[in-house]
This record gives sequence, structure tokens and C-alpha cells, in this order.
Amino acid sequence: CRLPSPSKNDDEKGYELDLFCVPKHYEEDLDRVIIPHGLIMDRTERLARDIVRDMGGHHIVALCVLKGGYKFFADLLDYIKALNQNCDKSVPLTVDFIRLKSYCNDQSTNRVKVIGGDELSTLTGKNVLIVEDIVETGRTMETLLSLLSECNPKMVKVVSLLVKRTPRSSGYRPDYMGFEVPDWFLVGYALDYNEYFRDLSHICILNEKAKVKYKV
Ligand code: IMP
Ligand code: MG
Repeated sequence: CRLPSPSKNDDEKGYELDLFCVPKHYEEDLDRVIIPHGLIMDRTERLARDIVRDMGGHHIVALCVLKGGYKFFADLLDYIKALNQNCDKSVPLTVDFIRLKSYCNDQSTNRVKVIGGDELSTLTGKNVLIVEDIVETGRTMETLLSLLSECNPKMVKVVSLLVKRTPRSSGYRPDYMGFEVPDWFLVGYALDYNEYFRDLSHICILNEKAKVKYKV
């Protein structure tokens, strides 16, 4: 699941923007499409199959890390539901949400803030599947995992749609991942830059002009 390699010694540049449909209001802001929506869906279908194979038989609490994880969470759960409807084995699913924030502009801050969601104590004794959009330094996930461990869940697995190839990584790797991606700031498919670009279907590289335009 490693995308062909980008620059800054990583030459994966994806596809020209003109090959796909993007909202008019974002045309000037994006450099390239790195993962088209259809490819995200196809990979997500397979992740659903792998997760049910490994965690099936137990009740799963799918924990969505908001806001960036909401699209991947919804689509992944749809595929798990489809498997449940069409296979001999099925796995009961319930959902939960947590809101974390660590980013300002395109910089990861050193603090990870929990700014919403249900009491984590409801996860005691449960099989939890954390659903995240992207792992960069790994700090967000390591913080969440340590918070969760205080509540003694029975099992915790992490699925992240994307993992960034970056020297800033702590070395943390999720149990399941969709794609490894180059060290660019990416937007779309619910990944945002200061709340913009969640309404874009493909995962794209944000250009430098747009980083200034939408800066807070
Ligand atoms: P980490 O704590 O450095 O691993 O960063 C993880 C969080 O930062 C993710 O949950 C995202 O919300 C955000 N993030 C990291 N890289 C990107 C990116 O390229 N685009 C948008 N959000 C990102
Ligand atoms: Mg996130």
C-alpha cells in the first residue's frame, strides 16, 4: 500500500488536477491530486475485509477521531455493514466519537487537545477500533492510546487511512493503514486546512499560495 515514491527526496506527485473534477472554489488552491476518491473507496473496501477477518466474532466499538476521520469512518463502516449483510459471519458494531485537535495552519502543535466526545470510560472492556484520517508524527494517536488505556478496553486496534513518510515520525505505526503518503500537506476527503477543503472528494496537495490565503 505504498504509493509510488515523491520529492524532498520523495517524488510521488500524484495526478494533474485537470484529470479529475474538483470544486471551482478550490481550483486555484491545489497542486495535484494524490489519491483520487475512487481509489480511496477501493482500498477502504479491502481494509473493511481485513478488519472483519481479524476482529470478527466480537462486538466492535468503532471510535471516529473527528473531524478529519468522518468520511473514512462513514465509508469504512458502510463496507463493514455490507460484509455483515452478505457473509456467514457478522460482527455487531456500535459507534463512538472523539474530537482531537493538534494542528494550526499546516503545523502540528506539540499539544494534542481533546475537545469533545463521549466519556471514554464507556469503552471499558470493549473491543475498540480507532478510525483516524492521517498519522504524521504519531503524537495524536499515541496520546489517544494512552488516554484510552486508562479505561481498560479489552482490545484496541487503530486504522488510519493515511500514514505520512516523514522524518518527524515518532515511529508509531497503526495496525491497519490505507496508504503511505509523501511529506506534503494534504487536504480533501475530510482532511482540512483551517477547516477548508473537507468538501473536496479527492486527497490533494495544497499549494503554497493557498496556505497563505486560508491562514489564521
Ligand atoms: P500527528 O499527531 O502529527 O500524527 O498528526 C495527526 C493529526 O494531524 C491528524 O489527525 C490530522 O488531523 C492532522 N494532520 C496531519 N497531517 C495532515 C495533513 O497533511 N493534512 C491535514 N491534516 C493533517
Ligand atoms: Mg485526524
